[in-house]
Amino acid sequence: MSSMRAISQTRLGGPEVLHEVTLPKPQPGPTEVLVRVHAAGVNPVDAKTRQAPNLLGEPPFVLGWDVSGVVEEVGYGVTVHRPGDEVFGMPLFPRQAGAYAEYVVAPSRHFARKPSTLDHPHAAALPLVGLTAWQSLVETADLRAGQRVLVHAAAGGVGHVAVQIAKARGAHVIGTASAGKHDFVRSLGVDEVVDYTAVDFADAVRDVDVAFDTVGGDIAARSVPTVKDGGIVVTILGGGYGQLVEAAGTRVRTAVVLCEPDRHGLLALAELAENGVLRPELDSVLPLAEAAKAHELIDSGHTKGKIVLTVV
Ligand SMILES: NC(=O)c1ccc[n+]([C@@H]2O[C@H](COP(=O)([O-])OP(=O)(O)OC[C@H]3O[C@@H](n4cnc5c(N)ncnc54)[C@H](OP(=O)(O)O)[C@@H]3O)[C@@H](O)[C@H]2O)c1
Repeated sequence: MSSMRAISQTRLGGPEVLHEVTLPKPQPGPTEVLVRVHAAGVNPVDAKTRQAPNLLGEPPFVLGWDVSGVVEEVGYGVTVHRPGDEVFGMPLFPRQAGAYAEYVVAPSRHFARKPSTLDHPHAAALPLVGLTAWQSLVETADLRAGQRVLVHAAAGGVGHVAVQIAKARGAHVIGTASAGKHDFVRSLGVDEVVDYTAVDFADAVRDVDVAFDTVGGDIAARSVPTVKDGGIVVTILGGGYGQLVEAAGTRVRTAVVLCEPDRHGLLALAELAENGVLRPELDSVLPLAEAAKAHELIDSGHTKGKIVLTVV
């Protein structure tokens, strides 16, 4: 077979611009692998890229960065994977990976072995949010056992994985969520839940070592008073960063993180999943052909855990 099914778009816009196309099946070059996609995770960045010329510019392009699948071919020089290996990853981000398709080609080290404890849909839900949380909490904030961390949107894609990573590191976790999601976030291990719709988290939370903003707007800046002297606010939304830096002054450290493909991070996530302490929650699983429906759900901003497209 030299062609494949994919979801593409010819103009920027709402979910309705997404439609099925037939494209040439890609071929792996040196150091690359061809992966048969079994499932593709859907993220808010997909929806942002669908509607504005930010990461990928003007269409046509194929969205999607989260992949779980099976290696079909390896290019010259690849030693870490073989045909038949089950792998997961977030290849090429923030450049085009084209995960909403039957096949992707990407550098071999942008993938790692899929954890045996996760099926393809669960494994496809993990890379982008997992790498974001790992690179933010572990590598940037250096979160340690016994420390206190505030996770905003603890029920969201990034948040619910961040909570599990923080608990696995032995931290005390405070999470924000609306009341209907409190049982869910407690089931993930959150020690204290703040209903952000009923109380101002900035009044309710004090003395955290790390505040993790996954919401945006002024949330990062308003998190500064919740943080101890010398603590850190990490945000994954750059829009409010100037405001954050101003609010933090010299008392609190700040960082903005844009997730990067990283085999070490994938291996760390896979180990947590294998040990049974990290498992993404699936809000909805839809077939590839229903990508537009998946985007309507992600556009709502109120999903619980992750949305995944199944390709096989
Ligand atoms: N920089 C990076 O590398 C990077 C990586 C990943 C994601 N991001 C960005 O980070 C954001 C979050 O991503 P995601 O995948 O976690 O999104 P998501 O799964 O769509 O987040 C949805 C969750 O956000 C919660 N929420 C919404 N407003 C809230 C508020 N004011 N306070 C607390 N919770 C709130 C909702 O809970 P309720 O229903 O209870 O409101 C819902 O559970 C997106 O904008 C995404 O583009 C950036």
